[in-house]
Amino acid sequence: MHTLAHDTALVLVMVGLPARGKTFMARKIARYLNWLGVTSRVFNVGNYRRHYLGSAQPATFFDPKNPEGFDKRRQMAMAALDDLLTWLKDQAGRAVAIYDATNVTRQRRQWLRQQLANHGIEPVFVESMSSDRGLIEHNIRQTKLSMPDYANVEPEEAVRDFRERIAHYQSAYEPVDVDEGPHVKVIDVGERVNLHRIHGSLLSRIVFFLMNLHIVPRPVFLTRHGESDFNVQGRLGGDPDLTARGRSFARDLAQFFTQRLAEPPIVFTSTLKRARQTAEALPFEVNSIKNLDEIDAGVCDGWTYADMMERLPEEYASRQADKLRYRYPRGESYEDVIQRLDPVIIEVERQRSPVIIVAHQAVIRCLYGYLTDQALETSPHLAVPLHTVTELVPRAYGAGESRTSFIVPDRPLG
Ligand code: SIN
Repeated sequence: MHTLAHDTALVLVMVGLPARGKTFMARKIARYLNWLGVTSRVFNVGNYRRHYLGSAQPATFFDPKNPEGFDKRRQMAMAALDDLLTWLKDQAGRAVAIYDATNVTRQRRQWLRQQLANHGIEPVFVESMSSDRGLIEHNIRQTKLSMPDYANVEPEEAVRDFRERIAHYQSAYEPVDVDEGPHVKVIDVGERVNLHRIHGSLLSRIVFFLMNLHIVPRPVFLTRHGESDFNVQGRLGGDPDLTARGRSFARDLAQFFTQRLAEPPIVFTSTLKRARQTAEALPFEVNSIKNLDEIDAGVCDGWTYADMMERLPEEYASRQADKLRYRYPRGESYEDVIQRLDPVIIEVERQRSPVIIVAHQAVIRCLYGYLTDQALETSPHLAVPLHTVTELVPRAYGAGESRTSFIVPDRPLG
């Protein structure tokens, strides 16, 4: 059962000039909701244009006074909306669809409201505004120049054309007004947020998430604790100490981060001994939080999987059949773990310094699943070896990844 229970379809309609981070926000929201177990999908009108009309359209195509361009853009908007409505119907109405387009005119938004009202849906507009030149420039250079729209175009020519495209939208832009229904205005990627008629847990969670987003690139390092006594014995849970090999990894880790980081990171560990001992040698302040504790194996805590197979064969089989939803008797499921990791994700999103997380197999799987946009069902099966640091650098769309494995000798010296 999800804590974000929602019975009806929710449609978020992005609004804003090009290069205001709409697609960034739309994709982030969809990823966050899917991870929380709320089916969500982005419908990007620009992709329909690229698919049906070809990506190389000159800036004049976007001129509101160009009747041919206007008509074609309207057709693309309709094609995306049709697909959105079909998709929502296929989800039996229990999903969040995000309509990602500029929607800068009141007329376009009224048309959208009318179309959606025919299906009993009142959209929520999410308007992204910014007059921060640095931010806009960053967005143009980071994301727009690599769009298929500008394949084989010199960067300076692409920037000039894109600025012209923005100016065309600007000439028709009417910000969302209070009589246009529920809306969120996000100013300068979360510096300021204005809300109008935003109610309910799902929408509130989405807004809370948006408030914490930013576009400053910084690495997130994920690692399991070093080897523990229970790892050696193949036992679940408990609160064991590190082995000598685990302690050796802890020392290597301290050296690695000392050399690797130019600025102090934010370090989070679970409250369990094996995670805290792994971070002990780090020359940084460490925050130990219970949300990062390992999945609670309930009555199976301290058992091996062989014990479980023998003593609770039906439980063992249920777990094999559906690892994501399987809940240990009097313990947790992966889905439960994801719900309690929600505040950790908000914390990770909002940090502008490097983040180090030292936790546990199931927990790292869930966090990695979110950060690299894995399908929810995949997370419980991800390989997360011991003594390996995964570095993720969230980018506008997706994340860069590298792994460092530490060779820890069987009998460490010292
Ligand atoms: C596009 O074609 O790139 C976007 C269409 C729009 O949202 O105005």
